[in-house]
Amino acid sequence: MRLLSVRLIVSLIVGITLVSCGFSYYEVLGEKRAMRNDLEHRAAMLGESLEGNVEQSWVTNQNTSVAQTTAQGRKRERSRAGTKPATSKGPALSLDQSGGERSNQELQQLVQRFANREHLLGVAIYDRQGALVAITPDLDKTLTSRPSQVSRAVADGQEESSFVRLGGSSAHIFALPIRRQNEVVGGMAIVHDASYIREHILLVWRQSFLRVLVQVFIITLITLLIVRWSITGPIARAASWMRALRTGKIAFPHELPDLEMFRPLAREVATMAASLSHARSAAENEARLRDAAESMWTADRLSVQLRSRLQDGHLVVVSNREPYMHQRDGKSLEVVVPPSGLVTALEPVLNACDGTWIAHGSGNADTEVVDARDRLRVPPDDPRYNLRRVWLTKEEEEGYYYGFANEGLWPLCHIAHTRPLFRATDWQHYQDVNRKFTQAVLEEIENVENPVVLVQDYHFALLPRMIKEKRPDARVAIFWHIPWPNPEAFGICPWQRQLVDGLLGADLIGFHIQSHCNNFLQTVDRIVESRVDWEHFSVLRQDHNTIVRPFPISVDFTDDGSKESDNQGFSYLERSALLRSVGIEATFIGVGVDRVDYTKGILERFLAIERFLERYPSYQGKFTFVQIGAPSRTHIKRYHDLLAEVEAEADRINWRFQSGKWRPIVFLKRQHSHKEIEPYYRAADLCLVTSLHDGMNLVAKEFLAARSDERGVLILSQFTGAARELRDALLVNPYDIDQTAEAIHAALEMEPEDKQLRMHRMRKVIRDYNIYRWAGNLITELCELRLDVPADTSEKSRASASAG
Ligand code: G6P
Repeated sequence: MRLLSVRLIVSLIVGITLVSCGFSYYEVLGEKRAMRNDLEHRAAMLGESLEGNVEQSWVTNQNTSVAQTTAQGRKRERSRAGTKPATSKGPALSLDQSGGERSNQELQQLVQRFANREHLLGVAIYDRQGALVAITPDLDKTLTSRPSQVSRAVADGQEESSFVRLGGSSAHIFALPIRRQNEVVGGMAIVHDASYIREHILLVWRQSFLRVLVQVFIITLITLLIVRWSITGPIARAASWMRALRTGKIAFPHELPDLEMFRPLAREVATMAASLSHARSAAENEARLRDAAESMWTADRLSVQLRSRLQDGHLVVVSNREPYMHQRDGKSLEVVVPPSGLVTALEPVLNACDGTWIAHGSGNADTEVVDARDRLRVPPDDPRYNLRRVWLTKEEEEGYYYGFANEGLWPLCHIAHTRPLFRATDWQHYQDVNRKFTQAVLEEIENVENPVVLVQDYHFALLPRMIKEKRPDARVAIFWHIPWPNPEAFGICPWQRQLVDGLLGADLIGFHIQSHCNNFLQTVDRIVESRVDWEHFSVLRQDHNTIVRPFPISVDFTDDGSKESDNQGFSYLERSALLRSVGIEATFIGVGVDRVDYTKGILERFLAIERFLERYPSYQGKFTFVQIGAPSRTHIKRYHDLLAEVEAEADRINWRFQSGKWRPIVFLKRQHSHKEIEPYYRAADLCLVTSLHDGMNLVAKEFLAARSDERGVLILSQFTGAARELRDALLVNPYDIDQTAEAIHAALEMEPEDKQLRMHRMRKVIRDYNIYRWAGNLITELCELRLDVPADTSEKSRASASAG
């Protein structure tokens, strides 16, 4: 660093000196030129004014009366000017013309009058032959012979001007011819001392030198200060921050040092630091796993698995909900992550293999940030995969999403006593939108060898067949995130055949649990012509084989359990502060987190809390249930009404029991981020999941993942997919209000050892079956399938797909 500073200073000094000297040189040159021009000008002016007088005096040699008159006139002029007539001290003069003596004196007097002019050394007059006629006293000492300039002026009849060395110093001679009746009869030399120009120039050089010195000093000083404040300081701070990070003295994420003008660099460094820290913890994890001979799934393991399974194939995921929405509010553009379990589950998969996620662009500023092909790179702060947005009209969204998917298929599959509505117009929109998404998929896999397409959910039942018709070489799977009902229930859908046929276009169909697979196979058996193979859980239809498998979805949980259980948990003070933030004082907390949906059993849950407080009045004033409820699909009347019902029910129960600062139910009616929900999970004595029917329910698993203290009890509806795996939860039938009320009581009264044991075992389940394992198994199964692609169709279909 020191060497760098010395180099910097030397370069600065040399640079500034050269530049300043260059400027000074041109300045001095200009000054010199100006002074010389000025001197030449003055000599010329003097010559001009002398010329007439000299020629006059020369004439008087032949016309004395004119000369006398002229001499008298000059005398008068002199007395007016107060100058004395000069006495001749000049050399003995000789003139070959008559009357010369008197005339010589006159010329001598004339030149003597100019003896005292500034910088004028004198004037000398010569006749045509070169004999001296008159000369200013003292000039004869330095000007011993006729200057060559005068000879040339006489010969050429023209003025001549030049700088010469005279008597050892610089002088300027201005020579001009003297004429009589247009004939050159002699010449005159006006001699100026020019040494003052050189002296002045030397002075200017001295001043410039001093100025350069001061400039070099000031500029070097300022530059060094700027470098120190803006470059050396931030670099030193960044270096020590990176050193601390590298040596593990600080952990990432850590606040970035302020690197001022290096901010863009700082962001890159931060990303690198994040990768470094990530790689380090992955390596540590790997080492731990090797030690423990375990086989836990992590993001890195999934990444390796996907790369080896996909080979050079490209992964495309299709879902209705997008992972990032761009929302504009006035001038501010916000990125929103929607409250969807599906998004949480799929993002690690895309991050791991740089694929493409195709989804409905539903943010009000989504169109502003995409490229010409409706794509952008996400996540916004660390882009790792492509998001391709598909645009829907209001009518399409209304018919396909709100109508057919959420008023038709959703209640049909959940059987939660809300009547499914099937409208022909909705069905038309559903088909159109499936076609629109198919087109987007085909565009994304155009010219891609071995593409792998993962279709998500009940919004896209027709997509697998539509894709396969154009690209039979693509591996296509669909994962159905909601339950599949029994064939009788499904049979009420007027378009059941088309839906099942669309799904059977896939190579693999995934459900959360085996009973959903069984229901599906029974439905297929009943409504379409096919051969169901119950031994291998597959369907053969029109020469195409589809396998049907359970893949229980899960959460991003990779805590390997090597750490001692976090006995501290949430302190009493932290719990009180959390409750105070929602205006409550209580001793025990229950928590529920749901989209406000009639399948979630929120009203049944509130009734169970009411029953519990009736049966166990000692908990009145002590137990509060916090319900976090994200309003959802409120455009649909059933959902809109439900929101109001839930609020009214909470109000009714609160009004019945509340006292002082306590009330039994806190309903937080808005979408909360994972970060906001986490403290409630960690503070709660129990978590209530009372879905009337649920494909899996990730809230149950998120609650377990948050409880590193191994406390807290999970009360779980037996009608969730999660209930098949989490056997240590207190399982309830949410329709049975008394049973749920008793479960609340049992959870609050449970021995700490029992709680810990149950929690410990359930956490092991979600650790072993986390989201990475879900994705890894699903994609591995899909990639290992034997595809029956008619050899000649694959090329043709690729060509027609891009055309269609
Ligand atoms: C639940 C279901 C998912 C579904 C999602 C849709 O989370 O389990 O399968 O995709 O709801 O929610 P949305 O708000 O996008 O309609």
